[in-house]
Amino acid sequence: MSRELLKVLQIVLVLFCTLSSYSNGKLIPEGAAAFDSSDGFIMLTNTTKHACGQVFDNEPVKLKNSDFNFFFVFGIVPEDKQQGSHGMAFVFSPGRGLPGASSNQYLGLFNETNNNKTSNHVIAIELDIHKDQEFGDIDNNHVGINVNGLRSVVSAPAGYFDDSDGSFKNLSLISGNVMRLSIAYSHTDKQLNVTLSPIEFPFPPQKPLLSLKQDLSPYFSDEVYWGFTASTGSIGAIHYVLRSSLNQGVTEHPKFEYNVIPILPPYPKKSYDATKLILAICLTLSLIGAFGASWTGYVFYLRHKKVKEVLEDWEIQYGPYRFAYKDLFSATKGFKAKRLLGRGGFGPVYKGILPGSDTEIAVKRTCPDSKQGMNEFLAEISTIGRLRHPNLVRLLGYCRHKEDLYLVYDFMPNGSLDKYLHRSETQQRLTWEQRFKIIKDIASALLHLHKEWVQIIIHRDIKPGNILMDHEMNAVLGDFGLAKLQDKGFDTQTSQVAGTMGYMAPEF
Ligand SMILES: *[C@@H]1O[C@H](CO)[C@@H](O)[C@H](O)[C@H]1NC(C)=O
Ligand SMILES: *[C@@H]1O[C@H](CO)[C@@H](O)[C@H](O)[C@H]1NC(C)=O
Ligand SMILES: *[C@@H]1O[C@H](CO)[C@@H](O)[C@H](O)[C@H]1NC(C)=O
Ligand SMILES: *[C@@H]1O[C@H](CO)[C@@H](O)[C@H](O)[C@H]1NC(C)=O
Ligand SMILES: *[C@@H]1O[C@H](CO)[C@@H](O)[C@H](O)[C@H]1NC(C)=O
Repeated sequence: MSRELLKVLQIVLVLFCTLSSYSNGKLIPEGAAAFDSSDGFIMLTNTTKHACGQVFDNEPVKLKNSDFNFFFVFGIVPEDKQQGSHGMAFVFSPGRGLPGASSNQYLGLFNETNNNKTSNHVIAIELDIHKDQEFGDIDNNHVGINVNGLRSVVSAPAGYFDDSDGSFKNLSLISGNVMRLSIAYSHTDKQLNVTLSPIEFPFPPQKPLLSLKQDLSPYFSDEVYWGFTASTGSIGAIHYVLRSSLNQGVTEHPKFEYNVIPILPPYPKKSYDATKLILAICLTLSLIGAFGASWTGYVFYLRHKKVKEVLEDWEIQYGPYRFAYKDLFSATKGFKAKRLLGRGGFGPVYKGILPGSDTEIAVKRTCPDSKQGMNEFLAEISTIGRLRHPNLVRLLGYCRHKEDLYLVYDFMPNGSLDKYLHRSETQQRLTWEQRFKIIKDIASALLHLHKEWVQIIIHRDIKPGNILMDHEMNAVLGDFGLAKLQDKGFDTQTSQVAGTMGYMAPEF
């Protein structure tokens, strides 16, 4: 036989083996789930946000009135080392899959309609990395036993009890390390034990992390399919299950020993929006001075004329909420000096608390005698009145009272970025991680304004003073005073320049 022929045969053989090991009909992926051929992991989710995936065994098992044990090795790799959303679950279902399940907090298990319905016949062990208040989650790193719904019957922070001294050791689900989960049910004791452990342990710890004393038989249908589900939200996370670790049905804990501990691949880098937009921002800064501000006056004049006409239609059609003056007055305690947050380019900003709720707001009053007041006011409401994005300051409404114009925003407790940038040596500085996060947040806001919204919105005044920090130190872009709307497909070459001297929008 010639060498070529051998080679071809070899390739065919390899192909055949690869195919047969992934299509033996045992496990069926749905949604975002896929088999990662390289290291034997099943990926329940990929980098897609707000997605969910499921993998189910296609053979049903009988669990009613019997003991059972399940073991598997899993790992979660978050996009952001500090947080991830959402979690994954090991699940028993009456069918081969859970059709209609939602992503985000629903973990690919249930949806808004069937959550907590006794007709589900679903029991799940959730490995949750997000704290959902609506389901009473204890924290953003917990294991829970769920019966027919997302509110866990019992749950505990992820960790294990050390066999030697019984002390509790934390484990972080989003550490990117592989861990093992064991699920054991004794029908005689009517007890379900769930144990989490590091993969280095050949046996799971004696004391389970969770124990539920309940007869599970009534919840099971006659035939049960087991599988996994996982979902992502606004922050990515990839959920893995080691295929070769799946083990089921044995009454004693099998010994697990790995000569080579499986390592999860890192979260795939997303090169596009971050780098490209950061580049754009850098370009902006480096182009400073290349354009003069001589257009500014002219642009103001033009916009003043243009936006004024827009107002009437706009107010009738889709204006944001119009606040009553007396509400704003009492919210800010009569625009007391004590409530003054700062003085923007076009007028003072006050902190307020809306009467009847505890909502904190920021109220910007534009001075009527300021020439730009009217322009700025109109631009802001017509531009951002309908915009909703986590990195864009939310305009809650407005108010016109006598000659005064008021804009009401979400309150940003941590103030603006310039405050942090110009701190003295003694005060705490922003870390590089925080700075990078701020850049990404603003890049995300810009991407939304430039690419995702029906019209292209050019902010034209991106500067630290207009970047606000919310309570979790997320950066939020504000002050749309100079924003300009463009229909898609406009010619950047002919656009005029506006904004603060020294800062410019990247598209120029
Ligand atoms: C993720 O999974 C979805 C299927 O739900 C697929 O359409 C998408 O292409 C996958 N994305 C990546 C990056 O693999
Ligand atoms: C919720 O899930 C159920 C059961 O799978 C399905 O019939 C229903 O259409 C889903 N509802 C929604 C709103 O997706
Ligand atoms: C779930 O449904 C049961 C009734 O079937 C109800 O008693 C219980 O309060 C519900 N739990 C939640 C968390 O909604
Ligand atoms: C374990 O986690 C809890 C809650 O997150 C924390 O309070 C505790 O200090 C942690 N313990 C150790 C040893 O890290
Ligand atoms: C569950 O754990 C308890 C100890 O907390 C143990 O006595 C019991 O045998 C365990 N049951 C199963 C089924 O592993």
